Amino acid sequence: MVKAMKKTAKSILGHNEILEEKILESNNFSPMKNSQLAVELKYEADHHHYIDVQEIEYIEFYVGNAYQAMNFFVNVLGFKAVAYAGLETGVKDRVSYVIECEGVRLILTSSLIYDSPISEHVKRHGDSIIDIAFIVDNINNSLTKAVQSQARPIQEPTVLCYGQDQAIKATIAGYGHLVHSLVQRHPSKKTFLPNYQPIQCPVLPSQNHIVAIDHLAFCVEQGNLESWNYFYHQVFGFHESHQEAIATQYSAMNSKVLRNDNGKIKFTITEPAAGNCQSQITEFLTFNYGYGVQHLAFLSNNICQTVRFLCSNGIEFLQIPATYYNQLEKRLGHAIPEIKTFQELNILVDKDQTGYLMQAFTKPIQSRPTFFLEIIERKGAEGFGSGNIKALFEAVESEQRRRGNLKT
Ligand code: FE2
Repeated sequence: MVKAMKKTAKSILGHNEILEEKILESNNFSPMKNSQLAVELKYEADHHHYIDVQEIEYIEFYVGNAYQAMNFFVNVLGFKAVAYAGLETGVKDRVSYVIECEGVRLILTSSLIYDSPISEHVKRHGDSIIDIAFIVDNINNSLTKAVQSQARPIQEPTVLCYGQDQAIKATIAGYGHLVHSLVQRHPSKKTFLPNYQPIQCPVLPSQNHIVAIDHLAFCVEQGNLESWNYFYHQVFGFHESHQEAIATQYSAMNSKVLRNDNGKIKFTITEPAAGNCQSQITEFLTFNYGYGVQHLAFLSNNICQTVRFLCSNGIEFLQIPATYYNQLEKRLGHAIPEIKTFQELNILVDKDQTGYLMQAFTKPIQSRPTFFLEIIERKGAEGFGSGNIKALFEAVESEQRRRGNLKT
C-alpha cells in the first residue's frame, strides 16, 4: 500500500523525496502529549497548508443488511432511495444504497463477502459510520496537502466515469478506522457515482422537514481528545470554537467543538472524565468496541413537525424530566409560548448570544446502545445547546440505569 501511495503522490507532484518520507511517516501517526500539541498548533497556525473542504458530500455507513437499513431510512425517517450498486451494476463485493433528503446524502453499504473489511467493521462496531466524505475543488491539490499534513492516503485519485458524468475520488485515513473520501465532481453530474444505477421513485413532498446535516459527534477514549483535535486541525484546518467540561451527579466528560472555515462542517468530540459512575461516553465506547460517531444531527426547518413525523413512525426520543421544563423559562429569562408542546415532544431549548436553538435526541437506532440521531432547529443560535447538556446527560443516565450500565 505504501508503495502504491508513493507512486500516486509522485504522479501528482512529480518526483519528491521529501514527500515520500512524509508518506512513510504518516503511517505512524500517533497521539501527542498536550504540551507538545500546544507548540505544534501555534506553529501550524502560521505555516500550515490544510485541505480546504467546503461541505460534506456524503456519509457512508457499513451495515449488516443494506436493504433493510435503506427501508428503515426511507419508510421510518422519510428519506428517498436514489441509487443502487451491487451485482447487477458490476459490483462484486458489496451492496450499497444511496438515500437522500434535501441537503443530506447517506450511503448504506453491506458486504457480500464474509471476511471483508466491511464485514469485520460491522462485526466489531455494529452498524456505524465509516466514511465522512467531503467535496473538494481540486483533488490533486487536496491529496498533496493531505500527505504534507501527515494524513495517510488509502485510495489514490481515481477517475470514475458513467456516460457523460465524471467524478474523481480519493480517500485518506481519518483518525483511527474512520476514513474521509475527497470527491471532485463535474458540475453537470447526473448520477451519484459510476457503478450506481438510479432508483426511480415518486417525488413526494418531504414530511420530515430535514434540510441538512448540522453536525456529527464523536466519542473518543479518555486522554485522546487533544490528539483528535490536533488531527482535524492539522489535516483540514478545523478550528476549535467551543469547549465544555460537563459533570453530573454520576459522571463527567470533556467536549470540544471543531468547525471548518465556512462553518458548514461541525464536529463535536467528547471523551469521558473521572466521575462516580460509568459515563454514557464510556458506555458508547464499550459497546462500540472503541471510538466512533456517536450521533448525527439533522437540521430541521420545523422541529415539532420532524419529531411528530418520526414518533408516528415508531422512533423513540429521550424522555426529558419535567423539572427541566419547570426551570426553562426562568433559565432563558422570559416566557415560552410553545413550552407545553416542547414538553410533550421532549424538545430542549437553549439560547446563546446570537439566538435560539431547539433540539431532540432519539434513543439508539440499533440494538447496541451506541449510535443515535439528533434533530436540531436553529433560530440564529450557532451553539450546541450547552445549557441543555446537563439535562440531556441526566436523561441518558436514566436510560443507562435501565440497561444496568450506570455502575461505578
Ligand atoms: Fe449534537
